[in-house]
Amino acid sequence: MPVIIAIGAQWGDEGKGKIVDMLAERADMVVRFSGGDNAGHTVVNSFGEFGLHLVPSGIFSSRALAVIGNGVVVNPAVLLQELAKLNERGVDTSRLAISDRAHVIMPYHIMLDKFQEQARAGKAIGTTGKGIGPAFADKATRHGVRMVDIIDSERLRERLTTVLEYNNTIMTRVYGASPLSLEEVHSEYCRYGEQLAPYIRDTSLLLDEAIARGQVVLLEGAQGALLDPDFGTYPFTTSSSPLSGGGCLGAGVPPTRINQVLGVFKAYCTRVGGGPMPTELKNEMGQAIRELGHEYGTTTGRPRRCGWFDGVAARFSTRINGFTSAAITRLDVLDTLPSLKICIAYRLDGQIIEHFPASATDLERCEPVYEEFPGWQTPISDIRRYDRLPVAARRYMARLEEIINCPVSLVSVGTRREETIYKMPDLMTQPVTQR
Ligand code: GDP
Ligand code: IMO
Ligand code: MG
Repeated sequence: MPVIIAIGAQWGDEGKGKIVDMLAERADMVVRFSGGDNAGHTVVNSFGEFGLHLVPSGIFSSRALAVIGNGVVVNPAVLLQELAKLNERGVDTSRLAISDRAHVIMPYHIMLDKFQEQARAGKAIGTTGKGIGPAFADKATRHGVRMVDIIDSERLRERLTTVLEYNNTIMTRVYGASPLSLEEVHSEYCRYGEQLAPYIRDTSLLLDEAIARGQVVLLEGAQGALLDPDFGTYPFTTSSSPLSGGGCLGAGVPPTRINQVLGVFKAYCTRVGGGPMPTELKNEMGQAIRELGHEYGTTTGRPRRCGWFDGVAARFSTRINGFTSAAITRLDVLDTLPSLKICIAYRLDGQIIEHFPASATDLERCEPVYEEFPGWQTPISDIRRYDRLPVAARRYMARLEEIINCPVSLVSVGTRREETIYKMPDLMTQPVTQR
């Protein structure tokens, strides 16, 4: 039985929430493995519409255990609120497990995120302001607090005496802010620890046991490949790896156990926050796509920057993630457009390049080279079979598939679970051999 990683293949917001919610009905475990509450995963199902930030999109499944893996940074206050809201709306959250090794977002992380953004002035990254960067920085410099620490009052106090002093020094001496009180932080986080203790487990062990039983495990990515700190548009990236490789580390599953890697792509491109985006349309067409797709952030409400499908970035994404198949979402958003474009190369300093450059400043100067396609100009949200899609839509899809360089398994034509075309009906049961 397969272990599947579903990840965002572009700059985030590809529709991972919808795809994971849908696939979760056939999974025994759904595991978030990266990021934190910077993520906003929209799920529309029989319970209603939800914007999840920390709770895995598998929480609605009638059978899956929803796991927050060790690679996630958890803001306990946000998680408790999210759980309370789900409960209010009739969703059972008892099948949740949180890794004892997951790092905790502390109040100073959120403050530092804001101070750092202010200090970047005109070069701000446009972070979500949730403290993600500083929390992962503390993990790397070994100043972090983990879930296992907040469930033991003495251990937390001892940890805070070192790490709070370190962070208070930075906040007061670098940013001129007031220090936080150890007593206040300690008592607030002890309270969170008490409330979350029933969920805190060795989740990597749970995964190992599930895999040994032959169960279906789905790893749910957050963000998107082009926000990866190594391979994304650095420094305009997030701080943990949204890649398939990040799935192994952030869930605690060895690479030898992964059967499939599903890349979730939008049928066009969006990006929220700063940083280069070669196919961005800063014109009426970009505005039209934003309005047609309601492209406003799930976490921050910011308008998303919209543009044509970037084939150079997509091919790069397949290369670094090893997609065994792709899900193309939001094809219906393009329904009314008379013609569409796909970027197949960049022009940089008079040269045609087909690779994704390392430098954000080079990428900023890249001009897209486009192929143009006729639109289908008819609604497709009611279509459930691939061969019933209009010819122009299939032609567009065929070119995407060729460029992405892996087979398309799913096509999403609306927000609801059922608004999906299964091009490979056995996606969840067949281990797919790597290309
Ligand atoms: P995620 O972060 O990857 O989970 O994506 P978001 O939830 O932030 O943004 C995706 C948006 O697209 C949400 O509003 C979804 O409800 C919506 N969505 C997902 N798939 C489709 C689709 O096929 N068609 C349309 N029209 N909307 C979709
Ligand atoms: P989902 O999981 C889109 C972006 C932010 C910013 C950069 C760094 O919903 O796809 P951070 O707060 O992580 O330090 O911000 O990353 N970003 C996302 N963009 N979708 C997301 O998550 C994102 N999570 C972070 O806008 O540009
Ligand atoms: Mg999102």
